[in-house]
Amino acid sequence: MWTVVFRQGFSARRVAHHDGETILQTARRANILINTNCVQGKCGTCTCLLHKGQVAMRRNEALSKEDLDSGLILACQSVPVTDGCEVKLP
Ligand code: FES
Repeated sequence: MWTVVFRQGFSARRVAHHDGETILQTARRANILINTNCVQGKCGTCTCLLHKGQVAMRRNEALSKEDLDSGLILACQSVPVTDGCEVKLP
């Protein structure tokens, strides 16, 4: 089973990832708080930094190309496409 690592400050938690789940859904299942608003890829409230691995975003109407190039992702729309994704929470 794939895992996702959530980093915040000096702490890190590795959580099992269920197939097809978004980063946000994985976090919520483990009671890890990611702030959200629209949950539709529009507001950018759930923006996180992808530190390692790759994700596919279902929808993105909030982040610019520069944001994406710097590793930012929308947790509510991002589905891991590699094992061991690491996400830095704000
Ligand atoms: S909660 Fe609005 S883009 Fe994710």
